[in-house]
Amino acid sequence: MTGHEYIRRLAGDRRVSRDPRQHWPELERIPQDWSLNVWVRVVSAFTSYGAEHRRLRNMIAPSFTPRRTEALRPRVQEIVDGLITSLETADPGEPVDLRAEFAYIIPNEVICELFGVPADMRAWTRRVMDAVLNTGASPQEARAAYAEMWACMRALADVKRVRPGDDMTTELIAARDGDFAFDEDQLISTLVLMIGAGSETAVNLIAKAVHALITRPDQLALVREGKASWDDVIEETLRVEGPIMHMPLRYAVEDIDLDGVRIRRGEPIILAFGAAGRDPALHGEDADAFDLTRTEREHLAFGYGVHFCLGAPLARMEAAVALPALFERFPDIRPASGVEGPVPQASFIANGHRSLPVHLKPVA
Ligand code: HEM
Repeated sequence: MTGHEYIRRLAGDRRVSRDPRQHWPELERIPQDWSLNVWVRVVSAFTSYGAEHRRLRNMIAPSFTPRRTEALRPRVQEIVDGLITSLETADPGEPVDLRAEFAYIIPNEVICELFGVPADMRAWTRRVMDAVLNTGASPQEARAAYAEMWACMRALADVKRVRPGDDMTTELIAARDGDFAFDEDQLISTLVLMIGAGSETAVNLIAKAVHALITRPDQLALVREGKASWDDVIEETLRVEGPIMHMPLRYAVEDIDLDGVRIRRGEPIILAFGAAGRDPALHGEDADAFDLTRTEREHLAFGYGVHFCLGAPLARMEAAVALPALFERFPDIRPASGVEGPVPQASFIANGHRSLPVHLKPVA
């Protein structure tokens, strides 16, 4: 489903569930080495329905309000400033991978700090979360990635039980070990959801925004001349290059007839949130064009309805700190990936590049 209105209506429809245990009879036939297992078999807010969804979402939502997010801004600024200082030492003749050395690190550091991931577990955490997005994994790779992700998040919970801290993992454990009816699988699944969502998504927002600006100097000029704001850049990137392209999976709770399409009870549904922003019915024939002068830039990059992204304020804030700081310090960034452009990530869920090679400064 790729049209804006269609996606919006299905995402907001009570006859559509995210809980496979209740609403997808095929689940029991799905092998343990399916590459989407982690998206389907975890038991968190992300894969629940109705009252259970509200309960699990309410567990985490208070930590991600716009006010709590705003309080993180100085720390995000510090991380960004530190990265820019180290980028300054790059040899102007050598390309720098801005995805790996800038865009990737910011959300990862922030979410690891929020969840108190110890420094010596961060590389492992990053590796397991990266693997989750590899929808082209072989059955063996998928099985191993699922097991390793589970082991990694369980190890994090074990560490925090022994050494609690001022972090969200400790808060979730306190709820689990207290009187909140939250079982161990839900605890581990919630860690997967939050650390995965927090680390893998805003990376592509930042990297795609940089790529859009360095490949369209006319658009960058609009920002420099004050004719477009950084918020315009962020929203236009979300519209044209939604960092989550497809979000697996939803299931029809009953037969649904929508615009001449019949979805039968129990059938799986996949919504292309990332495509909605390019719908010509809403944005006209030039919907694909990155254009900061648009007045209308509605998108569904953060989803719609009861599962609307809890991290939207955080992702927007991270990009709003990272982008101006980067372009202020390196006004001459230019692509270094040749005419083909950077290679897409091997994922139909994430919409990103594997790397973003650039030259930060003019060569003397
Ligand atoms: C640019 C960055 C991001 C994008 C594009 C994005 C996109 C999305 C989308 C499309 C959904 C809806 C899923 C659905 O309805 O099927 C979602 C849900 C969610 N996102 Fe994000 N996300 C981003 C960043 C974040 C961050 C930084 C966090 C947390 C730290 C986060 C946490 C969540 C959670 C917890 C949900 C599930 C909410 C629920 O099921 O009730 N996201 N996100």
